[in-house]
Amino acid sequence: MNVPLLDLGAQFQSIREDVLPALQAVVDSQQFIMGPAVAQLEAAVAQVSHARHGIGCASGTDALLLPLKILGLKPGDEVITTSFTFFATAGAIVNAGGTPVFVDIDPATFNIDPGAVKAALTPRTRAVVPVHLYGQIAAMEALMAAARRHGVPVIEDACQAIGARRSIDGEWRMAGELGWVAAYSFFPSKNLGAWGDGGMIVTSDDQAAERLRKYRVHGGAKQYHHDEVGTNSRLDTLQAAILLAKLPHLADWSARRRAHAEYYGRALADLPPVRTPVIAPGNEHIFHQYTLRVERRDELQAHLKGKGIGTAVYYPIPLHLQKCFGSLGYREGQLPAAEQAAREVLSLPVYPELTHAQQDYVIDAIRGFYR
Ligand SMILES: Cc1ncc(COP(=O)(O)O)c(C=O)c1O
Repeated sequence: MNVPLLDLGAQFQSIREDVLPALQAVVDSQQFIMGPAVAQLEAAVAQVSHARHGIGCASGTDALLLPLKILGLKPGDEVITTSFTFFATAGAIVNAGGTPVFVDIDPATFNIDPGAVKAALTPRTRAVVPVHLYGQIAAMEALMAAARRHGVPVIEDACQAIGARRSIDGEWRMAGELGWVAAYSFFPSKNLGAWGDGGMIVTSDDQAAERLRKYRVHGGAKQYHHDEVGTNSRLDTLQAAILLAKLPHLADWSARRRAHAEYYGRALADLPPVRTPVIAPGNEHIFHQYTLRVERRDELQAHLKGKGIGTAVYYPIPLHLQKCFGSLGYREGQLPAAEQAAREVLSLPVYPELTHAQQDYVIDAIRGFYR
């Protein structure tokens, strides 16, 4: 049997009758730049996020970069983020002119540790960027309280977490609802994925939304009139049409991912070398990734590969130890929870179309390895 890490072909077969006509409509209109599907998707994604505005842009990376750019960071300005994330989180901080300050994670959830954020706040801190890693929301109440006391905004990296929610004081709060702004990625492998690059910023700050809308089209609301120097970072109409056709399926896809996670969880619970994901109280995970901590990780990964099972390590090197950040002076041992996670994590196939037979095959292969 073959169990790929992700099977976009299976998803396509299930939605081709929705997506292909939507694409055809854009082609017929020949309105490829900022066509009506873009505004429709912006409204729909804002609604999913309990936010007032959605601003489409070219990628998740730009959805982080643009809000950081409008903060007008000066040399020496610090932005606190997690060391255990995809590179784009920190790359955007540097490209916006800031200095990333990496802090450690909560080893249970892999998300940024709010206590570490509090300890890292300084007079130079200009923003905090938590990441809702693998599809579960970070400890937003504590993070928001710390940032608010310090007078700095929170930018949610929700690139892996569209539709995730967290119950706070008995109310469901969505990814993208609590921060100043939030960034989504529509990279094809995401729970809501385009057929190319795409991203979106959501916010309920009217002024920020207006500025970001201009910033993504060279800083002007009116053609050839520029209030500031922005950039070109639009979401393609074709991608927006695809995403609009896919969006009604998102909740069901994420529910299926959760069901797969429960299935793995039950089957692997009694296997000591394997620790299944921890869901923080109140969180509803969307399992963009189903990530184990395992003993002898690299050997297990090779064993599974030999059996035709796709897995991945997100992420093998924590960002504070990346070569490009060498000048920041971090040392191995400084962020032990992130470093340990980088040595132990392994993500299994969890895409919605996965079958129980495939999951049983993966489970047997893991159990077989540790026997
Ligand atoms: C946590 C995180 N941040 C940022 C990004 C960047 O998104 P994109 O690849 O769309 O630029 C991604 C996805 O790739 C991500 O997973």
